[in-house]
Amino acid sequence: MRLLLIGAPGSGKGTQAVRIAERLGITHISSGDLLRQHVTEGTALGKQVQRYVSRGDLVPDQMVLDMLRKPIIAASEAGGYVLDGFPRTVEQAKVAYDTARALGVAVQIAIHLNVPTEDLVRRLLARGRGSDDTQEVIEHRLEVYEAKTKPMIDYYAERERLVTVDGSLPEDEVTAAVTAGIEDHRDELCD
Ligand code: AP5
Repeated sequence: MRLLLIGAPGSGKGTQAVRIAERLGITHISSGDLLRQHVTEGTALGKQVQRYVSRGDLVPDQMVLDMLRKPIIAASEAGGYVLDGFPRTVEQAKVAYDTARALGVAVQIAIHLNVPTEDLVRRLLARGRGSDDTQEVIEHRLEVYEAKTKPMIDYYAERERLVTVDGSLPEDEVTAAVTAGIEDHRDELCD
């Protein structure tokens, strides 16, 4: 099973991806976690991306695509993946779609976690992950989401199976809704 979670910062992508990956026995791939790991380890990529991540700007597409190609192929061969944070723009989605389709590892179901903005800000301020969970950077991340990532919902709605879930519900209820949405489409998936 190959899944994608789309949602604003703080919508619960990471939280739900961990649960879904465990439940379905597939690999959770978080572009944000991988980028933060590079920054923490001080790799060449980490040094290049640090300023983007701490400002809440998107890392250039090519860096993200290069970082994720191998993990996505490996996860597909190992039974599937749930992507969290990638693709992030229609441009990334187009490249990922073309590349993955040619390899037979394209996303089968896109799940959109829909959460009101006031809940997002409250959740992220409460979490305080680091330099990108300050009021100013959270506001910028939400602007970037509206401008660059939200249009991806229409992109997937036109091409793939799209499931929209109310992500403002308690975590267990969101997981149940995501699971039900996946089950609704399971019979249509041929590989
Ligand atoms: P990334 O790590 O992807 O961050 P994000 O999209 O801003 O999302 P978050 O991790 O903040 O939130 P989430 O939706 O995963 O929610 P979570 O489950 O943690 O990206 C960070 C940065 O990396 C970007 O700004 C960019 O610079 C770069 N980047 C990453 N991918 C990129 C890409 N593809 N291209 C370019 N650049 C990229 O939950 C948040 C909080 O809410 C937690 O405290 C959680 O406990 C709580 N919570 C979750 N669900 C619920 C619920 N149902 N009810 C109440 N609380 C809840």
